[in-house]
Amino acid sequence: MSTTRTAAVDVGNDAIKAIFGKMDSELYIPNVIARDIEDRPVIGIEELDQQDPIEGIHIRVHSPALLENNAIYRVGSLATKSDNPFELDPGSSKSEEDQTLIMLFAALALDAVNENQAAVFKKTNNVIDANYTLGTGLPLREVKEGKDVGYRSKLIGSVHQVEFLITPKYQGLKVNIKFDEVKVYPEGFAAYINLVMDNHSNIINRDLIDKQILIQDIGGLSTDIAVIKNRKVDDDKAQGFNLGVAEALEAIREEIRKKHGVELDSRRDVVEIITKKNDRNHIMVRGSRTSVHDITDRILGELAKKQYRHLRNVWQKNSQTEICYFVGGGSIVLKDYLKTLNNHLDGYNIDFFEDEKESIWMMSNAYYKLITDFVRKNSKVEGKKQEQKAGSTK
Ligand SMILES: Nc1ncnc2c1ncn2[C@@H]1O[C@H](COP(=O)(O)OP(=O)(O)OP(=O)(O)O)[C@@H](O)[C@H]1O
Ligand SMILES: [Mg+2]
Repeated sequence: MSTTRTAAVDVGNDAIKAIFGKMDSELYIPNVIARDIEDRPVIGIEELDQQDPIEGIHIRVHSPALLENNAIYRVGSLATKSDNPFELDPGSSKSEEDQTLIMLFAALALDAVNENQAAVFKKTNNVIDANYTLGTGLPLREVKEGKDVGYRSKLIGSVHQVEFLITPKYQGLKVNIKFDEVKVYPEGFAAYINLVMDNHSNIINRDLIDKQILIQDIGGLSTDIAVIKNRKVDDDKAQGFNLGVAEALEAIREEIRKKHGVELDSRRDVVEIITKKNDRNHIMVRGSRTSVHDITDRILGELAKKQYRHLRNVWQKNSQTEICYFVGGGSIVLKDYLKTLNNHLDGYNIDFFEDEKESIWMMSNAYYKLITDFVRKNSKVEGKKQEQKAGSTK
């Protein structure tokens, strides 16, 4: 068997987060794609090659797993600059959208073409054969519906090709992606694993492991609340909602435009304004420092109330819960509001991750732990089989 490279990928509605190999590299790409034609106007090829590939992902994707095969896309930051960017709808199913696969394949191909992988994957002319062992996830709701099975077989059953078109440094290269193994984990369970297991499959947070806990993952477009009991996700109790922070960010952007006449480029600019260390909740309006606290407080306060209502609902149905952890990028944005609400209302035992990166990368870290654990165990089994074989032929 050819060399396989481990990949742990969280295809979030807001952004894809991927960890590769022995954590030797990682990728973060906004989940935005736009259909395109073969030639996109660029200023000059030399100039193109000085850019960062991740800023100019322009690919053709060939895969039987796609509803629309052989289409050309701009992906990530390049797509946000196009006039027909496509972000996912709250009601969509991750496992059934081409967009999920496009993002996944783009991230893997970008890893495979990196020169650091030259020794790992075989390259013939301009085609790279890349084998991956993938750990990824789907929202609890989709796993409950059994969609993980179809998703996995779509991935594992065929070769998926990404051709780099006008992408800096990689123009003309093709990557054939094959999966040696694919594991699809439910998102909420993954978060729990991340809390109780380290990178070497050792148990950490021993006092947590047998407790009944909730994990509320607030993402860009969705919120999942997982109920963990007896070291398992309680499937019947778990809930998913089409409620993330994206809409609130959009509303803030719109109000700033109406009230102050300031056009912010994207939701990311709003995140910057509400999370920056200095001068938080202030913008410059015609050269004067201006507070937008009234706007952000009202809109985020409303969203926090909705999130809190969901928490209360789930907690009431699972009264023996000891703690709820808030994870996901949305938890960072809503942390202060949720804490204040909780102090005034039910006073639940809730906790947040102080480290922003830890909160946002929670899922991919978990998939990394799970897939490396699988690889380790599997190679032990393989090793034993080999030994037995060798023994029996002696
Ligand atoms: N560095 C940051 N600081 C604060 N908030 C951030 C930061 N990065 C992202 N966010 C916020 O987190 C949100 C996305 O969170 P996250 O990455 O958990 O979503 P996702 O996993 O992609 O989406 P989903 O869970 O719905 O699939 C963004 O909309 C943004 O508001
Ligand atoms: Mg998420």
